[in-house]
Amino acid sequence: MRIFSGIKPTGDSTLGNYSGGFRQYVATQELGDATFCIVDLHAITVPYDPADLHSRTLDLFSMLIATGLDPERTTVFAQSHVTAHAEASWLLSAVAGYGQLGRMTQFKEKGGEQEFVASALFNYPVLMAGDILLYQADIVPIGDDQRQHLELARDIAERFNSRFGEIFTVPNGFYPEVGARIMSLQDPAAKMGKTGSSEQGTVRMLDAPDAILKKFKTAVTDSGREVRKADDKPGISNLIDIMSVATGSTPAQIEAEYGDAGYGTFKVAVGEAVVALLEPIRERYVELRSDEGELLRLLALGADKARATSAPTLERMYETMGFVRARDGA
Ligand code: AMP
Ligand code: TRP
Repeated sequence: MRIFSGIKPTGDSTLGNYSGGFRQYVATQELGDATFCIVDLHAITVPYDPADLHSRTLDLFSMLIATGLDPERTTVFAQSHVTAHAEASWLLSAVAGYGQLGRMTQFKEKGGEQEFVASALFNYPVLMAGDILLYQADIVPIGDDQRQHLELARDIAERFNSRFGEIFTVPNGFYPEVGARIMSLQDPAAKMGKTGSSEQGTVRMLDAPDAILKKFKTAVTDSGREVRKADDKPGISNLIDIMSVATGSTPAQIEAEYGDAGYGTFKVAVGEAVVALLEPIRERYVELRSDEGELLRLLALGADKARATSAPTLERMYETMGFVRARDGA
């Protein structure tokens, strides 16, 4: 089984990233050959600060290790270190439909807000398809917001396979049963995102314990007082999901334990569970982040492994598409 996923070095990682991303990466690293990519090339699709990109790449790498990836066993690397990604993206753009790219929700949402829309934002899902297909991934652990992009990657793989030759594995998305979409604590209708959602509603992986407790205490809840998942209780349902992610208990177990406790008590309990989850991660992170030399050594190791894994697929892409390959040394 081959596993691949990517995460952007933009903004400070959130509890949403933990739920749909980090914890799933760690779980799937046990299932087979796993590769995880810091998608720095994706980070330039919206306006950004170069100094930020630089530090956030190292921040995110530290966080991936702090949450449990083992960079000596699993491949963890930066996308820009492996030129195959940029090349695959261009080659695959020959089989990616202009109309389909224009219908991507993320493109419409992020592009709609801006005065200047980079063409990179439009091409974003093609680069993502290349990331996945270069590693012949069987499963792609992601959150719910990436479902449409994963479907597009599957379409691109199928179109390439039928037009040029069967060279790509068609990947499947791998979504958590609970917590595939963590919502803002202040607005249960909005996704908890690195950017865009309100600060008070967003729990960051590196938030101090008292800040986390406060965010949960002030979380928006619904009418009634019973702690139970229901469509008309989006605030409480979100808190139950978060409790499940933090403790490993199922939503049913949580309802059984807290059903009658009242919202106030439950909010405090969820805050404490999240603090208990994040404290050890934060401690490991601070230690890892302080040794840049070691981070760069591990990134180089990851890049070497990723180059070796992706090179044969890129070569087959060029060959099946009819390119004359340069002779060695030419
Ligand atoms: P990003 O930070 O956008 O690169 O996302 C990295 C991973 O975190 C992706 O697999 C996302 O689907 C996942 N993710 C981001 N926000 C959330 C959220 N609120 N709930 C669940 N998963 C999320
Ligand atoms: N688009 C993904 C996100 O915003 C990040 C990403 C880039 C990715 N390439 C990928 C995720 C390949 C999975 C596989 O979260």
